Amino acid sequence: MNDKIQFREDEVYILGRKFVPLINGEKIRRRIVELSKCIENDYRDKIPLFLIVLRGAIFFGVELIKNISIPVNLETIRAKSYGQEMQSSGKVDFELPNCNFEGKDIIVIEDIIDTGLTINEIITALRRKNPNSIEIACLLLKPESLKTDVNVKYLGFEIPSKFVVGYGLDFAEFGRNLQDIFVLSEE
Ligand code: IMP
Repeated sequence: MNDKIQFREDEVYILGRKFVPLINGEKIRRRIVELSKCIENDYRDKIPLFLIVLRGAIFFGVELIKNISIPVNLETIRAKSYGQEMQSSGKVDFELPNCNFEGKDIIVIEDIIDTGLTINEIITALRRKNPNSIEIACLLLKPESLKTDVNVKYLGFEIPSKFVVGYGLDFAEFGRNLQDIFVLSEE
């Protein structure tokens, strides 16, 4: 029996912390298809360059891109996660891929925006590379946690400012492969 992650009825316990269901996987997948169709429509005459922010956004990014039928380009950025913490350290650590962004129509794919510091730094670094356009696709946004203005064109869901896991999001690397999104219980 794995003692790191345990399931009891519809609850999940990760490293002893209780998480309860927040967004059902079916609902997530339906919303992602809607976002894919919006992107397909908006980029009909372009070839968007998707930049998936690793590692959390892999699940969302793959689902989003596989529902798009126009030609696309794909790159990844590795950004530092919360590690064992449940709060942003305020320090952003990432490296842009070594590719040509000039004149490209970039869509940055994020799993979740909390303070907005990570995505803002990524966007600032990308602007220096002279792309034609930059937009953000993000699965989850915590509006009450934002510390900076962020314009998310393709947003899955707004959620309360609480720690969540599942669908790519982890707590100390556990819970990424949960099909649904779970929120930390107050109890
Ligand atoms: P921000 O810079 O504060 O917006 O944080 C963005 C990053 O923090 C995300 O890409 C996630 O890796 C991580 N993060 C923020 N909120 C959560 C959460 O509720 N669960 C898991 N990771 C989170």
